[in-house]
Amino acid sequence: NELQRAPSQHVGPDYKTSDEKPEATVSTTIEQKNVVILPQTPQLIALLTMIRDKNTSRADFIFYSNRINRLLVEEALNHLPVHPHTITTPVGRTYAGVKFEGKICGVSIMRAGEAMEQALRECCRSVRIGKILIQRDEETSKPRLFYDKLPEDVKDRWVLLLDPMLATGGSALMAVDVLRSKGVPEERILFLNLIASPEGAANFSKKYPKLRIVTAFVDQGLDEKNYIVPGLGDFGDRFYTL
Ligand code: URA
Repeated sequence: NELQRAPSQHVGPDYKTSDEKPEATVSTTIEQKNVVILPQTPQLIALLTMIRDKNTSRADFIFYSNRINRLLVEEALNHLPVHPHTITTPVGRTYAGVKFEGKICGVSIMRAGEAMEQALRECCRSVRIGKILIQRDEETSKPRLFYDKLPEDVKDRWVLLLDPMLATGGSALMAVDVLRSKGVPEERILFLNLIASPEGAANFSKKYPKLRIVTAFVDQGLDEKNYIVPGLGDFGDRFYTL
């Protein structure tokens, strides 16, 4: 695997000059138009630094990854259509605003994707959340669908698909196949992940160019075991057990 070169950028508040700001590694930019990368703000880089650190405790890993998940959900919600909605304020004036249009649901890819459910619930109270379990088949080493439980009207909803690490994209692509088989249009699926590999993003864009990926960071690449590098290790292990 040919690794991308890690880009670096001065990171810090705007009122500081470049030489007063530290240089930090920021997300690689990629050409795929359907991939939305969160702005590389000082906050986001600091949060990513916490969760990438192998010495970060499990409690901190949960807390800081949840903060990034909130940013991902808020960004994904910006991609949903709105319609005009004018209201009256307590001082009797009108305000021309907007209102969300359409129904949404979450679908988490078990088990790591379930770690993103809390952020979705914090932003969208009483949101329906479906589940998909895909695991690598021991014999063929291909991803295999073991279980799915989705809202019966999933085809009428916008779907926020949750999985924190987009490595090769094998299981997430299979999850999208499941959603497509239930009638969900590709353009109504938003795939949220914390860290994506360029390979995974490219595989997705090739098969599902109208699906949007919302990610906090596109990393350098994959190692020989298909871990994302520099990455953060095994997300599920760090969130649930270590
Ligand atoms: N899943 C993980 O948890 N980490 C990786 O680096 C890749 C896939």
